Amino acid sequence: MRIGIVGAGHVGAVCGACLAAIDHDVTVIDVDHERIRTLREGRMPFVEPHLEALIARGRARGNLSFDVDPAALSDAEVVFLCVNTDSRPDGSVDLSPLESAVSTLAAIPGLDAVLVNRSTAPVGTAEYIRSVTADARGSAMRVAVNPEFLAEGTAVRDFLAPDRVLIGASDERSARALTDLYRPIVVRDLPADVGARVGAPTDGEDVPFLVADPASAELAKYAANGMLAVKISFINEISAIAEQVGADVTRVAEAVGLDARIGKHFLRAGIGWGGSCFPKDILALQGMAETRGLSARMLRAANDINGDQRTWVTRALHARFKTLFGRRVGLLGLGFKPGTDDLRNAPALEIASQLAKANVKVRAFDPVVGDVPLTHRDRIEVVADVEDLANGSDALVVVTEWPQFRELDLPALRRRMRTPLLLDGRNLFEPEEAVAAGFAYVGVGRGVANTYPLPVNALPSSAGDGKPDDEVPIRTSDVA
Ligand code: UDX
Repeated sequence: MRIGIVGAGHVGAVCGACLAAIDHDVTVIDVDHERIRTLREGRMPFVEPHLEALIARGRARGNLSFDVDPAALSDAEVVFLCVNTDSRPDGSVDLSPLESAVSTLAAIPGLDAVLVNRSTAPVGTAEYIRSVTADARGSAMRVAVNPEFLAEGTAVRDFLAPDRVLIGASDERSARALTDLYRPIVVRDLPADVGARVGAPTDGEDVPFLVADPASAELAKYAANGMLAVKISFINEISAIAEQVGADVTRVAEAVGLDARIGKHFLRAGIGWGGSCFPKDILALQGMAETRGLSARMLRAANDINGDQRTWVTRALHARFKTLFGRRVGLLGLGFKPGTDDLRNAPALEIASQLAKANVKVRAFDPVVGDVPLTHRDRIEVVADVEDLANGSDALVVVTEWPQFRELDLPALRRRMRTPLLLDGRNLFEPEEAVAAGFAYVGVGRGVANTYPLPVNALPSSAGDGKPDDEVPIRTSDVA
């Protein structure tokens, strides 16, 4: 089918590359000429595993192109709207990019496509899009909803091997067009090379294909992210209790997650969620409820707990050092999760701001992030490798659980540090291995594991008197 994509961001570029991979003829447009130029040159505007290879595949086969001219979509049968829909602090959603995209499409002479909104947008947006096209053309265009359930770092696989495809349609032609479009994914008929590349099954049971009304499809997307966020905040609330009662939340989560009704995913306690989706979607869902006089107490609580998790590092440091003045702290990871260079709502940025206020020298290493936003240049020094990060540090903090951090030579890093304290914000390490390497170890919801008092290399002289601080002893614990 002839497919148009509006928006070449994390969602649009992935959708375009994957639809081309299942042999549709795809054109992706964006108002950002620099981004289109980058993609046309085969370069990636952001890190997303397998995206570069699939874009190269589509361009080589001639069924994937990038353009800035909306007229390039004039013969499309389906046009996906993949533009950003950001939340304002009050929970309302800025639909102006969507309005602009729809107005542009409605102005394309002869365009007779089904407009499909993939951007996460409040319930009623599909109806609103129809009205914008009716105002522009005199008669409304067909509009459907197809929420994306793509997680950064696994977006290509999430698209090609989804848990389900969800459509919101109010007319037969739209439903049929999307049924035809997604058929290769539903029946898992992926090209062998594509399936192999992304580890997507090319046989087995069909992918569930749900067709609902537009409002239900729009709400389902928010409800899915709301459920995931509540799960994370739930286990983080349990982690705070575990810390006090001397339990290990990772063992608690393992036992809870084995219940088939609960499931093991999204029960990893840590410094909480970031990214471009959860924060804005939870706020928007709360806003949708509260503007209708509902309370959204669970969502509000999930957000509040997540905010508390952002202070875990600062609290852990204050509990172990009488003063943080002049300390050097190394952040392992900057992105909001592994597999991406996305710093939107990344916990690392907020943690660094809190530490900088306490006059801590904050340094950071991330495998794919080499720089921080201008707003944070004055409080984070990005270094080139973990060895440099450890030099003279009073603590290393696991902020992003990159798999390669699991393989770090802890004893070697300890020897480089001034005070070997490991704050494991993502429970990436086992306490025993950290303690064996000579670290004082603090996990989230795992209590502390170390010799007593804090093992030290050379205590920093506290500001002024030249004598070492009296270290606040670490609480020993019977953490397994
Ligand atoms: C999310 C949803 O997963 C995806 O379906 C939706 O389409 C977009 O939003 P994303 O934000 O890319 O995807 O990342 P995700 O993997 O969901 O993680 C979100 C945040 O939660 C990350 O900061 C991650 O570190 C955190 N997280 C995740 C936890 O703290 N604990 C967990 O157990 C899982």
